Amino acid sequence: MHKVDFEMVEMTLDVMKYAIGRITHPAPELGKPKKEEELKTLVGETITPDGIGGERAFQLFKEVLIKATVPIDHPRHLAFVPASPTRAAVMFDLVTSASSIHGAYWMEGAGGIFCENEAMKWLVSLTGLPKGSFGVFTSGGTAANLSAMVTARENWRKNPENVNKKGLIITSSGAHSSVKSMAKVIDCDVLLVETEEQMTAEALSDSIITLDAQQRDRLFAVVATGGTTNAGIIDDLSGIAEICGAENLWFHVDAAYGGGALASKSARPLFHGIEKADSITIDPHKWLFSPYDCGAIIYKNPELAKEAHSQEGSYLEIFKDEGAHGFNPSDYQIQLTRRVRGLPLWFSLAMHGTDKYSWAVDQGIGLANLAGQLIRKHPLVELVREPSLSCVLFRRKGWLPQDYTHWTYKNHREGFALVTPTKYRQKGVYETVARFCFINPDTTEKDISMILDSMALKDVV
Ligand SMILES: Cc1ncc(COP(=O)(O)O)c(C=O)c1O
Repeated sequence: MHKVDFEMVEMTLDVMKYAIGRITHPAPELGKPKKEEELKTLVGETITPDGIGGERAFQLFKEVLIKATVPIDHPRHLAFVPASPTRAAVMFDLVTSASSIHGAYWMEGAGGIFCENEAMKWLVSLTGLPKGSFGVFTSGGTAANLSAMVTARENWRKNPENVNKKGLIITSSGAHSSVKSMAKVIDCDVLLVETEEQMTAEALSDSIITLDAQQRDRLFAVVATGGTTNAGIIDDLSGIAEICGAENLWFHVDAAYGGGALASKSARPLFHGIEKADSITIDPHKWLFSPYDCGAIIYKNPELAKEAHSQEGSYLEIFKDEGAHGFNPSDYQIQLTRRVRGLPLWFSLAMHGTDKYSWAVDQGIGLANLAGQLIRKHPLVELVREPSLSCVLFRRKGWLPQDYTHWTYKNHREGFALVTPTKYRQKGVYETVARFCFINPDTTEKDISMILDSMALKDVV
């Protein structure tokens, strides 16, 4: 398996040919899932004692399996938070794999970690956090939020009075599900500020006031959102920062999706106050055009993260030795062995320069505004709220929830687009609506118009 032979060289060429074809394709086929039984019937047994051979396995992948996946960078994939890795970043993902770098400790990964850190310096500079702030790349926003929450909780527990207390955090109902999920992982309670819009300083203060003495004692952090996943809403970061300062609470900003917009001159002021955060999540695999998976967690005081995350072990001691001196990414988040997942971002940034990143993010914001204009003019649809960052919520007049579902499936089935519905709450009532999230700068006005026109169909079933 580890030998270099003719078959291996041929396979390398095949893989390269496939990768070049995929990387240069402007709009790869929008695949759709099949049931597991169907896929099994189509591909048969692939894991056998003797192996089916690389050629056969690759053929099955190209002819069957890849067609059962959605390319996240399709210009009419506007569902969830899509992605659109730059071609340079994708190419360097191949290089990252081929280089087999262990990204946990400087001793083994110095050159790769150096590159990650160069990219990280740019990311940190976008936040406006003070000198000394720094971060590491994680597997995504969930891992970044968890790493921050562990750091916050451990910092709070430095006070011996808090050691045996169950922690409590406050966030908003619009916060990402991962915040609530990760609170379960660290076994802390969550109090939600109920709002479909921005979490304001006033609403936060009101909810702190409602806490009884025991709850107030357990409260150690507030998680604000820098761009909600559903609607692109940014909490009142400045006001929340002030309260966290006054109440001695850890201030975490989850900007996993919206953080890319820090690179946009026009959007940057919306994040006023983020520079006062104790920790910030930003996912380059969302709006900074990195391939999966690449999240990031940034700390105002990285030493606190190190105290919380640094792992001890006899076989790890050498990494901490003077001779191995350098930055060890594993000390600052939950993962030990790690891919140098910031490398593709570094290469793409180095190749293109940061201005092009600002341009590409602005395109996403521009597309959302353009969609807003097209929706206003279209007889069948109307805006549910003004576009925010690159998210647009709109309704098809007269449609029931099931109509949105059928429309989504029809467009997907036909390989035309993936646009999914969501829910939006107004005056306490949830409404099913359609949602666009723009990331790919190659999405066009025509793409948007065609999708809106597809809502004319009556026979969507
Ligand atoms: C605001 C926010 N936070 C966290 C996450 C979770 O990120 P990941 O899926 O990379 O773990 C998401 C994902 O969409 C998000 O939008």
